[in-house]
Amino acid sequence: MTIQPIPASITVAGPGLPKVAYGRGSYVWDSSGKQYIDGSSGPAVYCIGHGNEEVNAAIARQLERIAHGYRYNFTSDALEELTAIVAEKCGGRLKHVVFVTGGSEAVESCLKIALQYHAAKGQMGRRRFIARQRSWHGNTLGALSISGFLERRQAFEGALMPASHLPPANIYRPPNGADPEMTGEVCAQQLENEILRLGANNIAAFIFGPVVGAAGARVPAPPLYAQRIREICNRHGVLMIADEVMCGSGRCGTWRALAHDGVEPDIMSVAKGLAAGYLPLGAAIYSEKVSRVITPAHGGPMTGHTFSGHTACCAAGVAVQRIVERDELVDRVRQIGPKFRKLIAEATRGIAAVGDIPGRGFFIGIELVRDRETKAPFDAALKLYLRVRQQALENGLICYPVGGNVDGISGDCVILAPPYNASEDELREIVDKTAKSIRQVLAAISS
Ligand SMILES: Cc1ncc(COP(=O)(O)O)c(C=O)c1O
Repeated sequence: MTIQPIPASITVAGPGLPKVAYGRGSYVWDSSGKQYIDGSSGPAVYCIGHGNEEVNAAIARQLERIAHGYRYNFTSDALEELTAIVAEKCGGRLKHVVFVTGGSEAVESCLKIALQYHAAKGQMGRRRFIARQRSWHGNTLGALSISGFLERRQAFEGALMPASHLPPANIYRPPNGADPEMTGEVCAQQLENEILRLGANNIAAFIFGPVVGAAGARVPAPPLYAQRIREICNRHGVLMIADEVMCGSGRCGTWRALAHDGVEPDIMSVAKGLAAGYLPLGAAIYSEKVSRVITPAHGGPMTGHTFSGHTACCAAGVAVQRIVERDELVDRVRQIGPKFRKLIAEATRGIAAVGDIPGRGFFIGIELVRDRETKAPFDAALKLYLRVRQQALENGLICYPVGGNVDGISGDCVILAPPYNASEDELREIVDKTAKSIRQVLAAISS
């Protein structure tokens, strides 16, 4: 197989992609018989690997009974069971769940629940959202409006709803040259400054990814950041929304990524790992505090779609979550995560371009820089991250490279997010092929 041409952008599917044939565990095969190890669970989705027979059987059983009981006519065993599982996994006051069919819809629902909350309180001025640059919340217009991802927004500018975008909370690139130790404090203060600048009575919610994925390459919130923003949101009556579409459902070693920081949001989104890609599923989850306000006023969240709470999708979610629980996979991710990161550090030692290896659990990024001292990125025109993706495919590895993490245009990262049940040999294979692919691409651009 020859290396396919580099696509113009990661936001559109490139030409000449291999045709997928089937998958088993951590491996995928294309129609030519070529095998790939799935080092990123695709886009951080396939958290229990491919072709799981238990999940397939659970879906088939549900389909035999009924595919979809429309939620305005019926509840179902699958819907009720998954609601109970998610509430139990979230713990605390996050007990209320609306199931949707993906991450963007989950985020969209979170935004609408926040608006409903303030409307129910008679605070119709609180319409604005504050988010961060280098963040990705989804491709629907609302979710795109709050996303800080230049390349994906550009074509829609002018039609997006107004939102504030604060600088990213990234300890490797602290704001305005701040002391890295102070990044959490400085970034939290930026939130409070923006709330005061716009007037708290105009702010609905602050939304952020506890560990940033597609737009920032696995950057976890700096220490104390989440606690400080929780205090600030409480002080100003602003709701806190945690977008855990990518980093949640156990990927970072706790079922809720923000549980690591000991912080509970008012509203949160999950999606990718919830049904592990077996069927499309996401959820918006909200707290007792929010429910106590919106339920008497509106009867519940006004975010329903035809397929919200789709029965077969919920059955897939139940089956996946039972496996995650039974096989103690979140504990496994927490325990093996540091070892996985160490493997990456060892395999990439000697590659001068590796600037940082941020992340947590099975959600690790490798940031490539032109100059380690100054942290200067490579020329964006090189599209280094896309070259790594192509080279990795050539080497039989699926990884998730992202670009633009430095200023929206420049910056190259490679994200690894293996299935939670990938064996240690498989983790080693993922890491070795990643390091090899990066070395090959760097050698090619310098020759
Ligand atoms: C943090 C986050 N939120 C929302 C989304 C959107 O999810 P989806 O692509 O399922 O609509 C993504 C997708 O990558 C994401 O990473």
